[in-house]
Amino acid sequence: MPNVIFIDAGGKSKTIDCTVGTSLMKSAQLNGVSGIYAECGGQQMCATCHIYVAEDFLHTLPEISIDEDEMLEATASDRLPNSRLSCAIIVKPEHENMVIHLPKFQR
Ligand code: FES
Repeated sequence: MPNVIFIDAGGKSKTIDCTVGTSLMKSAQLNGVSGIYAECGGQQMCATCHIYVAEDFLHTLPEISIDEDEMLEATASDRLPNSRLSCAIIVKPEHENMVIHLPKFQR
């Protein structure tokens, strides 16, 4: 179970054990990470699960799909080069110690 570190916009961090094969969004919600609303339940239709992924882990992520790309254009906080939807990321063993920054606003 890889540890993933979530850091909120105020700098507060929370490290959680994520289950391989589940989405990062679901793992965050199951482990009480605040700031990920996921209003559409993981259908890539709301952009309220927006995250910023540490750049040294970007190569471990799947390509951004057309749907994800469109939703990332609708985020409440600025889209950055390392913006992703956490529901589009399935946890893998290589995500051990991945750092995720949460945006200031999700809606
Ligand atoms: S949960 Fe809605 S886009 Fe990720």
